Amino acid sequence: MNLTKTRLAGLTALLAGSLLAGSALAQTEVKLGYALAVDSHYGVAANKWQEVVEAETDGRYTFTHFPSSGLGGEREVLEGLQIGTVEATIVSSGTLSNFVPEAGVFDIPFLFRNLEHARAVMDGEVGDALLTKFEDAGMIALAWGEQGFRHITNNRGAIDGPDDMAGLKLRTMENPVHITAFETLGAAPTPMAWPEVIGALQQGTIDGQENPLSVITSAKLSEVQKHLTLSGHVYSPAMLLVSPDLWNSMSDEDKAAFTKGATEAVTAMRGFVDEVETRGVEELRAAGMEVGELSDEQKAEFQEALASAYEQYYGQYDRALIEKITAVE
Ligand code: PAF
Repeated sequence: MNLTKTRLAGLTALLAGSLLAGSALAQTEVKLGYALAVDSHYGVAANKWQEVVEAETDGRYTFTHFPSSGLGGEREVLEGLQIGTVEATIVSSGTLSNFVPEAGVFDIPFLFRNLEHARAVMDGEVGDALLTKFEDAGMIALAWGEQGFRHITNNRGAIDGPDDMAGLKLRTMENPVHITAFETLGAAPTPMAWPEVIGALQQGTIDGQENPLSVITSAKLSEVQKHLTLSGHVYSPAMLLVSPDLWNSMSDEDKAAFTKGATEAVTAMRGFVDEVETRGVEELRAAGMEVGELSDEQKAEFQEALASAYEQYYGQYDRALIEKITAVE
């Protein structure tokens, strides 16, 4: 009797031990895709996201990074998220409004006054409400990140006013709001997925592109572009998302770990953007770029030239929402 009891206890302990070992070993791989290099603002955010999730979940989730568009362009990665072949991503607002049209409101030129204004909107009621809309599009949006304000680079010449945009073959993101703006300015916008851009600039099939300093420096665009115009024509948000497959498989605690990780990743990303904003221009000048900056008057000329585009945006997006955004302090 005693012997049976002892054996039973031994077996129970063995079973419990192997279950524990099994659960400690059970790891879920998170494939995390993003367009830029590991030493960019995306890489910094991706590393922070991984660090927090791994710490909070005792390593039950392991991240495999696919930087530099290793899983394809941003649209492809978002589609991968929807069908569950990719677990997580950090993307720009490039193609987001093709999935959730309302998100395009943030792409309106000269909507945000500065980074502080943009961050207050993204972190507030408007930003939060938009995040929730992605669930209906088959994605879980955890946080808004950022890239900074977008500026124009090109190989044709300096840009001092809207007239200099005439016929400029400018790569844009696959973003309807941006395309409308550049068409209105008389440029020849060429929507193109990011992985094709450097090649197209090298071959001269396009004259230029537009991106924030964080991208211009980390993608070393100074090697293929001569002129940089600090136009700050539009704020460039980013977003951290996970697939519904991954999300729905998680406990509430694990969901909280991913959300906490995403929030800390955004703080790290913004810190990196702040730093590039201070050192980026000098770095690009030293690399041989000719840099000009639009004055407030010149920016006002661009806004005037965009009058008919604004009419379209006001028809497309709720005017009250636009006013709510501009009213945020
Ligand atoms: O220009 C773009 O497509 C985006 O800003 C980039 C460079 C892919 C970063 O998300």
